[in-house]
Amino acid sequence: MSVELDFIKDMFDSIAPKYDFLNRFLSLGQDIVWRKKMVESCDLPDKCVVLDVACGTCDVSLEIKRQKGDRATIFATDFSPKMLGLGKKKVVRKKADKTLYLLAGNALKLPFKESMFDALFIAFGIRNIMDREGAIKEFFRVIKQGGTLAILELTSPPEGIFRDAYMLYFKKLLPAIGSIFSKNRKAYHYLPESVINFPTAQNFALTIQESGFKNVKLKAMTFGIVTLFIGKKL
Ligand SMILES: C[S@@+](CC[C@H](N)C(=O)[O-])C[C@H]1O[C@@H](n2cnc3c(N)ncnc32)[C@H](O)[C@@H]1O
Repeated sequence: MSVELDFIKDMFDSIAPKYDFLNRFLSLGQDIVWRKKMVESCDLPDKCVVLDVACGTCDVSLEIKRQKGDRATIFATDFSPKMLGLGKKKVVRKKADKTLYLLAGNALKLPFKESMFDALFIAFGIRNIMDREGAIKEFFRVIKQGGTLAILELTSPPEGIFRDAYMLYFKKLLPAIGSIFSKNRKAYHYLPESVINFPTAQNFALTIQESGFKNVKLKAMTFGIVTLFIGKKL
């Protein structure tokens, strides 16, 4: 694996034990609402097979399970063993392991055959992958004809008073709180940097389109601090 991928994997391994707590705390519980809307927006077929890429501790997979029950067969994959381990525990605790399968995998080289999935989800993962175009092409490969790609990601809100206040929180307060609880200073300083370096929502939507997806739509949430991108493989 490249140095860049190793850095990301080690970082998530290190913050894994505090990841869920910090997500809820730093987003004031909004992360639950964002994932709920992401799954709702996909309009999944009654019976479906879906993939949760960069699944972390499986919050997206569990939200799919909550909405679809056993009518969804879910595969969840991530390259951080610690995040996956915690995800597995949560899935077993919630008795969701009958139709939810976890496996280790790199988003750039997914361990699946082509055209397998009705939908592919990736929440707060694509920002950490430098070769985004390569990842999206890989997503295209494993999605069925007519299937859906759903990407949820932190984005920079549009210019204005809200953005100024948010950036103050995001660049100063959030790294301080994150560092204290996770005991990993680098990770919560990397977070605002990675969001600032992420393309604008419009430009990222173009990348999705250029990778083969059609009808690409984007939906800003919570004043644009998060954007949901939906594309179709037609
Ligand atoms: C911010 S967490 C998001 C976890 C989860 N999707 C959620 O909604 O909370 C990002 C996850 O992406 C994973 N990740 C980053 N790059 C990856 C890659 N190239 N392949 C697989 N997983 C990756 C990390 O290990 C981490 O678990």
